[in-house]
Amino acid sequence: MMPSQPMIDGLGRHITYVRMSVTDRCDLRCRYCMAEKMTFLPKKDVLRLDEIVELADMLIARGVKRIRLTGGEPLVRKGVEQLVLELGRRIGNGLDELTMTTNGTQLARFAPMLIDAGVRRINVSLDSLQPERFRHITRSGDLAQVLGGIRAATEAGLKIKINMVALLGLNDDEITPMLRWCSRHGHDLTLIETMPLGEVEDDRTDRYLPLGAVLTKLELEFGLIPSLARTGGPARYFEVAELGIRLGLITPLSGNFCEGCNRIRITATGTAFGCLGHDQRVELRDVLRNEGAEAVDRALDTLLAGKPAGHQFRIDAARPAVARHMSVTGG
Ligand SMILES: C[S@@+](CC[C@H](N)C(=O)[O-])C[C@H]1O[C@@H](n2cnc3c(N)ncnc32)[C@H](O)[C@@H]1O
Ligand code: SF4
Repeated sequence: MMPSQPMIDGLGRHITYVRMSVTDRCDLRCRYCMAEKMTFLPKKDVLRLDEIVELADMLIARGVKRIRLTGGEPLVRKGVEQLVLELGRRIGNGLDELTMTTNGTQLARFAPMLIDAGVRRINVSLDSLQPERFRHITRSGDLAQVLGGIRAATEAGLKIKINMVALLGLNDDEITPMLRWCSRHGHDLTLIETMPLGEVEDDRTDRYLPLGAVLTKLELEFGLIPSLARTGGPARYFEVAELGIRLGLITPLSGNFCEGCNRIRITATGTAFGCLGHDQRVELRDVLRNEGAEAVDRALDTLLAGKPAGHQFRIDAARPAVARHMSVTGG
């Protein structure tokens, strides 16, 4: 068998980071992400846990150094402990880092397991620190439960970055309070622009808050220092010296970060996307089930050859064909 080739795309970009969605299900219904009444995928369509591990091993063999587990909500997937513990065994054996993006509702239960598995950093989504508002945005969420989860995770030794989707008229007055709260608790904060993903009832054009204006305001308030840190993802970073934390801004609609893109995404059904803002994809699940590892490698090569140079989002666009429930940010 041929040794595995590194994953280099048609433009010479080296793919070292993969976001893997482990479920389309979630215990919350954030207005910008999901409809209130969701029909989730039949179990047979979703990659089994052993298939996720098999795919991860192939990706690691091809040079992937970081895997981020996401969803839906990764911690509601049945058997997530076994999955995380199994993938954790790859850390130091090809994999540099295993991370997760979570809504935090199950963290009190799972934080010790994450630490045991070798996870050291996680992203937790938190759009409001006001209980009623949090419930409104998530349509059901209990803020105290999430804050308890964050506390448990911090106590277990996990470094936490908070992800806050900036929503015009919904939580834009909480950006400064959230920065200060993060500073008090030792968390970095990343602000995210809403993206036109998924099928949801709310009209996101009403909620779109361009982060450029927010940045100008925060610069006046805190004197931000641009950071050179790049992750190969859509975030730009600033040091907030006064607060002792780092602020990230994810501006997929207005930012340009595609040149250094080092990532691909795989949905819970095994669809691999080269770019968040494009429909370009390959289906890996049936290839894995029916044809085996070499065919998966060939499918990945097809994905890499066609990985788009950059994305095109328009806030007023018809829903792009990017799969629903694919983790979209948090990087
Ligand atoms: C899809 S969620 C999956 C992981 C987990 N359930 C969570 O909420 O962190 C990953 C991230 O995507 C963000 N997100 C979801 N829909 C979005 C949208 N339409 N625009 C911008 N960010 C979005 C969420 O806020 C979250 O930070
Ligand atoms: S953003 Fe995360 S927590 Fe909210 S509905 Fe989507 S998957 Fe669930």
